[in-house]
Amino acid sequence: MRRRLAAGNWKMHGGTTSLTEIHALTRAHPAPAVDILICPPATLIEQAARTASGSAVAIGGQDCHPAPSGAHTGDISAPMLKEAGATHVILGHSERRTDHGEHDTDVRKKAHAAQTTGLVAIICLGESLAQREEGSTLGVISAQMTGSIPDNPTAGKLVIAYEPIWAIGTGLTPTPAQIGEVHGHMRAALTARFGAELAQGVPLLYGGSVKPGNAAEIFRVADVDGALVGGASLTAEDFSPIISALEAS
Ligand code: 13P
Repeated sequence: MRRRLAAGNWKMHGGTTSLTEIHALTRAHPAPAVDILICPPATLIEQAARTASGSAVAIGGQDCHPAPSGAHTGDISAPMLKEAGATHVILGHSERRTDHGEHDTDVRKKAHAAQTTGLVAIICLGESLAQREEGSTLGVISAQMTGSIPDNPTAGKLVIAYEPIWAIGTGLTPTPAQIGEVHGHMRAALTARFGAELAQGVPLLYGGSVKPGNAAEIFRVADVDGALVGGASLTAEDFSPIISALEAS
């Protein structure tokens, strides 16, 4: 019933030559059993959407401004992403929280703007290593969920990605039990706030050093509905087996 999603976050990587990777994904997965998403840098969204046109691969942005337009140098709005061909947008990634001082209240406004525009908002959450070690992971996740997810979210336009900061780009991953604990907690928090019907429909992604070699194990964890993949999404060679592992799960 819940859609499963293999999402790639290219971060600040890639140029026009990378479009061949999207083309290869469309060829390798003509009729996938799961949703496939690539979020390239903003400069590539329009070309990526054209490359993926007519295929099962969707294209998304990596951030949007809360306002539809205005005097905000360097920013991109949700309607602009949509016009360029994006259907999703990643919001509140820990790199944006760190690099640009984004807080939960900013993420909430951006998510509202995205959903109002008809984009799927992929809201990212996750604890630091210090927070994990002091035992405050679940409290941190609860607070981020309360702060970042708008009231009255649009069913079908919300995805949550659990990305422990210490697992991003490090090769470290939580144990399946640790991932399961957080994902179960997230599902319960969604249910408590929005009711079972909406909560059951929200895909919960895991992100942080997902690779072809560990994807199947991660996808076996209850309440893991897919992955948000950084480094291993940059080539079809690495991302394709992760998609296949999700299809097989
Ligand atoms: P890595 O897969 O490179 O660890 O990145 C995860 C991530 O931050 C995805 O948004």
